[in-house]
Amino acid sequence: MGWKTLNDMDLNGKRVLVRVDINVPVVDGVVTDATRIQRIVPTVQHILASGGKPILLAHFGRPGGERRESLSLNQLVPTLESAFGAKVLFAADCVGTEAELAADALQPGQVLLLENTRFHAAETKNDPDLAAGMARLGDIYCNDAFSAAHRAHSSTEALARLLPACAGRLMQAELEALEGALGAPKRPVTAVVGGAKVSTKLELLGNLIDKVDYLVIGGGMANTFLVAKGVDVGKSLAETAMKDTAAEILDKAETSGCSIVLPVDVVVAEKFEANAPHQVLPADQCPPDSMILDAGRESVAAITEIFGKSQTLIWNGPLGAFELEPFDAATNAAALKAAALTRAGQLISVAGGGDTVAALNASGAAKDFSYISTAGGAFLEWMEGKTLPGVAALEQ
Ligand code: 3PG
Ligand code: MG
Repeated sequence: MGWKTLNDMDLNGKRVLVRVDINVPVVDGVVTDATRIQRIVPTVQHILASGGKPILLAHFGRPGGERRESLSLNQLVPTLESAFGAKVLFAADCVGTEAELAADALQPGQVLLLENTRFHAAETKNDPDLAAGMARLGDIYCNDAFSAAHRAHSSTEALARLLPACAGRLMQAELEALEGALGAPKRPVTAVVGGAKVSTKLELLGNLIDKVDYLVIGGGMANTFLVAKGVDVGKSLAETAMKDTAAEILDKAETSGCSIVLPVDVVVAEKFEANAPHQVLPADQCPPDSMILDAGRESVAAITEIFGKSQTLIWNGPLGAFELEPFDAATNAAALKAAALTRAGQLISVAGGGDTVAALNASGAAKDFSYISTAGGAFLEWMEGKTLPGVAALEQ
């Protein structure tokens, strides 16, 4: 890997500009999932312990270049203080005089949080002048925001080219886990790809076919593949316009030796509602007035058998309408099997994506997975084989 880590940097007495992703869900001023905050703690504590002064740069939501009080990072200060066990000071802008004075006044043991970078429209344009303003605040740049690394923004890309740069602990862990799962994995390797639409995951499917031995397709996407095979899916969510593309993917998989796994039985209901009356039918027998909401038990048995044969598993997307009970059953059962195999030392399991992680947390499987990514879009783009600008900028 062509980038430096915190171990390569002399941090003592240095102002370390750390790009973090603390884009966490907040409801009525309360952080409802602090995972991303907890996962940056090792980086911040390492810098503090090495005598460095962490100065945090981050975005929050999508304010579109305007100052919006509801998207001020100020509201995260108490959560950050308790996570870091350190005093967190706040500057009301991420560049300019106030930020510079605050950075210079920072004392050992303290952390400085800068205001939402996206209050500047220049941030999302990867503007070099904004990056130069940020660079004045630090001696070293550390990018610990893997989950924002698919964005070429001033704080994730341009800035990395202006200061001695390194990856933080979380960035390092994310890249190592993904490299282990798709770069040079232990085989057989299985990917689970679910979610609503084939159209949003075309590049992903194309890339995975060349890399994995088994590709399990679930969720609404699987319906489109069933349509491609000539199956009538009734009222199910499916992109019929994508059926030729899905057929091409099936053909391509065959020639590249990748087995595509589609549901053999399905749970169908007439309504998209929690606890809607439902029945289990063979995948090609969905009644015209019904919709497929989950994979059935036989499908789960086939999927978990493949997990048992696999050494590596990479998972993005639920197998069914996991947000509605009991249509989370296939996702939960498969996830718990993956967790058990991982616990037994038989499987390396990596998962990412907002919905996926929510589903794995709900099933109780997440804690046993080898690695759970904090990233959504960046995880997907990495799996698609794309270069992430925030990572590439560290590799110069
Ligand atoms: C995320 O929450 O997925 C990241 O923080 C990136 O946010 P964005 O999609 O608004 O760029
Ligand atoms: Mg996103």
